[in-house]
Amino acid sequence: MTDKVTLSVIKADVGGYVGHSSMHEDLIEEAEDRLELAKDDGTLIDFHVSRVGDDLELIMTHQMGVDSSKIHQLAWNTLEAAAEVAKSLKLYGAGQDLLSDAFSGNVKGMGPGVAEMEIKERASEPILIFMADKTSAGAWNMPLVKMFADPFTTIGLVISPALHGGFRFEVQDVLEHKKIYFDCPDELYDLVVFVGAPARYMVKAVYHRDTNEIGAVSSTQRLSLLAGRYVGKDDPVLIVRSQGNFPAVGEVLEPFAFPYLVEGWMRGSHHGPLMPVSVPQSNPSRFDGPPRVVCLGFQLCNGSLVGPRDMFDDPSFDETRRQANLAGEYMRRHGPFEPHRLPLGEMEYTTMPELMKRLAERFEDVTD
Ligand code: F6R
Ligand code: MG
Ligand code: MG
Repeated sequence: MTDKVTLSVIKADVGGYVGHSSMHEDLIEEAEDRLELAKDDGTLIDFHVSRVGDDLELIMTHQMGVDSSKIHQLAWNTLEAAAEVAKSLKLYGAGQDLLSDAFSGNVKGMGPGVAEMEIKERASEPILIFMADKTSAGAWNMPLVKMFADPFTTIGLVISPALHGGFRFEVQDVLEHKKIYFDCPDELYDLVVFVGAPARYMVKAVYHRDTNEIGAVSSTQRLSLLAGRYVGKDDPVLIVRSQGNFPAVGEVLEPFAFPYLVEGWMRGSHHGPLMPVSVPQSNPSRFDGPPRVVCLGFQLCNGSLVGPRDMFDDPSFDETRRQANLAGEYMRRHGPFEPHRLPLGEMEYTTMPELMKRLAERFEDVTD
């Protein structure tokens, strides 16, 4: 038996209530029942089922390492069971993120989002799990750069010897399926050239440079790329370790005090501010948004998930929420125009090809 523990967060939208705005309690209960059985038979050490908006989030601990087919099978079966409940209630888009009928050993490439890390649990192991709805996988780029490489966010980088050596960023090019590492702060400017374009370059993981310990891991699955057509939002997740060699809890949360613009609002085709909210407030309803992020905090205890604490359930984020509403209103006033609407190539719905075909003959050459 390994002395390590693996944290797996696997999520999917398996049916919305009402529309894409929230989740029916029966789906949570079904997932809890399934995972309880897996805990009883020793597959899982512990679990917590949660949601953000219409996304069902399975947070699991075990000792089978990352990419374990047993854990992925369990997650797949659990999401399928929840999708069946969604179908029985005729919930909206039931089973929409489960792209295949046949499970092949790993949920990657089959629709669900996945973030996993295997760690040696420290004497005290505070973990923060971020989950977002109505946005896409690159949404974690800005907060990860801020928490692990920006001294204006994380003063620990400046004044704590444990963090002063900096962090290594693993970046994936999701179009070319390539990855590259950047050592920060030395290569910060190079890093930002790439991750400032989050639709293509995504921070997959962050490592403590002195010890090589993993500090963060995100889901980078892009549903639209997987399916070759629009099938739903990527609605990503992120796991961050905190304190000691890593940013403090407050430093990890601090980037979310700014409601930065992300893509994914209404029909996956609009930019909007990311609003940090508690789980009960994660019901994106105004123009199917604005995009939401929730954060659950746990203390790991020999693999058990002590918690959660609902981290954005704090009046100190009220002002962020107010600013998000103002920014959302400002963006909404652009209606169907960019930059509220996404550039043509990024939209998840489009009538353009059909329209171009129909109107092709009416386009005349411009001669002057
Ligand atoms: C879904 C989302 C929503 C839908 C919209 C249209 O995550 O962001 O804005 O895109 O409600 O949904 P359909 O096409 O299913 O009617
Ligand atoms: Mg949905
Ligand atoms: Mg969603």
